[in-house]
Amino acid sequence: MSQVIIGCDHAGYQLKQVVKKQLLSLGFEAEDFGTQNEESVDYPDFGTLVARKIDKGEYEKGILICGTGLGMSMVANRFTGVRAALCNDLFSAIMSRRHNDANILVMGGRVIGSELAGEIVRTWLETPFEGGRHQKRLEKFSEF
Ligand code: RB5
Repeated sequence: MSQVIIGCDHAGYQLKQVVKKQLLSLGFEAEDFGTQNEESVDYPDFGTLVARKIDKGEYEKGILICGTGLGMSMVANRFTGVRAALCNDLFSAIMSRRHNDANILVMGGRVIGSELAGEIVRTWLETPFEGGRHQKRLEKFSEF
């Protein structure tokens, strides 16, 4: 069973619970790094837990959820091996895999509903990276 690592802050907690169930129904194992309730926490604390593990190659794919998705994407993208994509729509989810080989999907729990989030998660996990010219572009990331 493939594993997906997941984390959130208080604003993403409700959606994280929904996404976890969905991951199971899709045949994925969800490794949950919190938070575990709606008490106020700082999103960098949970974002770094997940991003560090992706950066180290311990997991291939992760999901982060905060209120807008903005804070979590900013935090996660500070790790050099992370390509975190904020996708609150389906087109971005598809393209973030095809062209950017995103390894962390970020969503805003206060922006999208659970039905849309479910479609985004399923699509993101199913969509392969196209490689080719896009691989060459990703390689340029390590030049700076
Ligand atoms: C928490 O209130 C909120 O600021 C956080 O979830 C996130 O949206 C930050 O980018």
